[in-house]
Amino acid sequence: MTINNLLDSLTTSGWYVWDDFLNTSEIQSIKDCIPDTLQEAKIGNGVSLQLNTNVRGDVTLWLDDDMGDPIKSYFNKMYDIRQELNAGLYLGLRDFETHFCRYKPGAFYQKHLDNPQSKSRRKVTTVLYMNEDWQTGDGGELVVYDREDTKLLELSPKAGRMIFFMSEQFPHEVLPTNTVRESIAGWFLNSVA
Ligand code: OGA
Ligand code: MN
Repeated sequence: MTINNLLDSLTTSGWYVWDDFLNTSEIQSIKDCIPDTLQEAKIGNGVSLQLNTNVRGDVTLWLDDDMGDPIKSYFNKMYDIRQELNAGLYLGLRDFETHFCRYKPGAFYQKHLDNPQSKSRRKVTTVLYMNEDWQTGDGGELVVYDREDTKLLELSPKAGRMIFFMSEQFPHEVLPTNTVRESIAGWFLNSVA
């Protein structure tokens, strides 16, 4: 699990799973910065904002680097990775946006693309998992498909693990979770949509 593995794997397959990206205490200190009351996740943006629990049932909170040192160091880490991706893969990534997500038991997120038809600035998706005691049967797996809709992988949302994938290329879904499931999704953005 190194930055070079990430660069190689993003180049060859377009995705990469980095286990132990953060350790237990780093994850816990980020959680401690998150307020308990979160908004319902919304589909779309601007005036078309609407709640649609048939599509996704999580609640989210956009993160900012003034929300505490643990979140600031997460941003710094992602900043360093952005520099590496630009230096190694010439992706021209300019920004990073990221939100915390909490799925209550029964919640899921239907199969979707993070950047359908390349209409947004999202180039690389990251999802960091925060579930310390995740066990088989807890559900909430991330299932990733290729462009032909063939299942590529099913990933348990174990604490400290981070997945990276090209936002335009991989449909993915969150299977219904049986326990509270927490993650931080993020997107490296290029300069133009
Ligand atoms: C998303 C998403 C996946 C996950 O927020 O767009 O696909 O595993 N999240 O939390
Ligand atoms: Mn997604």
